[in-house]
Amino acid sequence: MAALKKTSWIWIDGEFKPWDEAKIHVLTHALHYGTGVFEGIRAYVSDGKMYVFRLREHIERLFKSAKIYFMDIPYTIEEICRIVIGLIRVNDIREDCYIRPIVFRGYGYIGLNPLNNPIQMAIAVFPFGKYLSSGGVRCCVSSWRRIPGYSLPPQAKACGNYINSVLAKIEALKSGYDEAILLDDKGYVSEGSGENLFIVKDGKLYTPPIYSDILEGITRASIIEMASDLGYEIYERPIARAELYTCDEAFFTGTAAEITPILEIDGRKVGDGKEGPITRRVRCMFEEAVRGRLPNYIKWLTEVPI
Ligand SMILES: Cc1ncc(COP(=O)(O)O)c(C=O)c1O
Repeated sequence: MAALKKTSWIWIDGEFKPWDEAKIHVLTHALHYGTGVFEGIRAYVSDGKMYVFRLREHIERLFKSAKIYFMDIPYTIEEICRIVIGLIRVNDIREDCYIRPIVFRGYGYIGLNPLNNPIQMAIAVFPFGKYLSSGGVRCCVSSWRRIPGYSLPPQAKACGNYINSVLAKIEALKSGYDEAILLDDKGYVSEGSGENLFIVKDGKLYTPPIYSDILEGITRASIIEMASDLGYEIYERPIARAELYTCDEAFFTGTAAEITPILEIDGRKVGDGKEGPITRRVRCMFEEAVRGRLPNYIKWLTEVPI
């Protein structure tokens, strides 16, 4: 995980402000109660061009997350997409980067009713490389369960949800693993701390369904589409914990993690402990697609003039 690399400008509440001046009050509601929703988006540079991956889908998910929490975003999806592109350009970024839009309840009232606090919005963009080790990761099944949908909707990418991921991530790191896999409240596999998960068994792909309390990942959807274009069968169905130990291959998907092979789970090698052939095939295809090298998936890219 890399330290933040500063860029020149952050967009906040309708204005571009210098990075160091993009500040909020300590009594901001979201800071105390987690009342914000956000997105993580990547943009890739390739052959002198920059492409934002599935920009519109990410902004649409931001609106859905906000709707769940009665937050009316005072911009349209199109306006936000244009601001993201403008922000990349004004920062003159010419390398792979990460885009972080956040909408949150601001300053004004204290207490659990957020409805009188203003809706604020910021977007930052900064250079970003690998999030997890690209060669693959060693995981543990977390003792923390994924928040069930009857307590907090996991389908909303809400700030408060991430304290669950943070507990699992700290536990994994302190125990000497790279990443945590969380089970849902029924004991089925849900997802990583910030990634969706796939396993491969006998040439078929399996991934936990929405009702295993996952965030409905945009990378997950992309991999489902690509793998089926490659002719693989893919099933969204509950995955038992022990299947993690006996599957042939496993990998994470996510904007930050991209496609990361899982090499070991709870001390057991996944397959032979190396990236498997199907994982490699979909990973390579994904990596080509995000850089605009596959005509079938250009539809997912928004080109930014650089
Ligand atoms: C908890 C969680 N699950 C899954 C994902 C993967 O989602 P996406 O592929 O849309 O980035 C993320 C990342 O946003 C996440 O934070």
